[in-house]
Amino acid sequence: MTDTHNRLLGDRALAPETLMMGYGYDPFLSERSLKPPVFHTSTFVFRSAQDGKEFFELAYGLRQKHPNEEPGLIYSRINNPDLEMLEDRLAIWDQAEASLVFASGMAAISTTLWAYARPGTVIIHSGPVYGGTDFLLKKILPQFGVTSIGFLSEGGSKAMEEAVESACGKGPIAALYIETPANPTNGMVDLGRARKIVSGLHGPDANRPVIIVDNTMLGPIYQVPLAHGADLVVTSLTKYVGGHSDLIAGGCSGTAAMLEPIRGMRTILGTMCDPHTGWLVMRSLETLKLRMTAAAEGARKVAAFLNAHPKVASVWYLGFLPEGHPDPPVSSANARAQAPLSASK
Ligand SMILES: Cc1ncc(COP(=O)(O)O)c(C=O)c1O
Repeated sequence: MTDTHNRLLGDRALAPETLMMGYGYDPFLSERSLKPPVFHTSTFVFRSAQDGKEFFELAYGLRQKHPNEEPGLIYSRINNPDLEMLEDRLAIWDQAEASLVFASGMAAISTTLWAYARPGTVIIHSGPVYGGTDFLLKKILPQFGVTSIGFLSEGGSKAMEEAVESACGKGPIAALYIETPANPTNGMVDLGRARKIVSGLHGPDANRPVIIVDNTMLGPIYQVPLAHGADLVVTSLTKYVGGHSDLIAGGCSGTAAMLEPIRGMRTILGTMCDPHTGWLVMRSLETLKLRMTAAAEGARKVAAFLNAHPKVASVWYLGFLPEGHPDPPVSSANARAQAPLSASK
């Protein structure tokens, strides 16, 4: 992001839907093109060998960043203007300090877990989770010495506490991985409670397990997990965020410090998003709120229709949260999160 542009837009002062039109882009650096070009390039040119040396040293963590220094462009597996703009914009929707974008939702999830799990550690996860995540947790990570222990989302805080208890003898808990609402049951997990449950683990708070939330089903318009205690939020951008069924991509948002090991892992695994897909996701972010609001309205009508249908026994819809559900949805710090669970007739 350029200084000129920061001054032009006053950083994040405007509403996200307004910022999506131009945030992080300076047309005067791109022949005054109103929209960012797709930077279809593998490699970037350095003004001098010294520049190249300095860019590489920073990218590979061999030296500290100078004050106000922006990482130089090197190679599109490491950074690319389209991806940097997209990441700045995704961070706005996720109310995060920073974001990273990936080749798919699974690339985001797996790179994030590779960055935080170690042999001998345990990952506690809600269940059900999306099938690919389930396979990763139960079939792939155990081959590398990482144990996964699940709890049922509908089991409320008690199920989560029991999972933590049973994990304690099995090794340090590296992460609490939560998919809420769950695909496909819509089961929800109380994120504030989850944060409290893991807070006392492993001594000082800095050592507690990282809380990762898959926000694909509601995010970022109807749920902002980072506002409720999550450390990292992962999203399959393929779904509502992409919104046109014409791309596969993923995102991970959080603090810059917590994203750093994930960024390093992404550089080496090569799980980043490509520039063309990144450009398409930027296009999608401009209409995200309009599309998700319309989709929610459509879902509300379909659920109401089914709920009134004599042949339908129960409807699992977030708007029909039953009275006394153990983990009601947390109210949002701002007005735009918030969506309830499901019910039977
Ligand atoms: C909740 C959830 N998380 C993650 C994924 C994986 O995303 P992708 O297909 O973009 O890899 C999916 C895909 O269906 C999903 O539903």
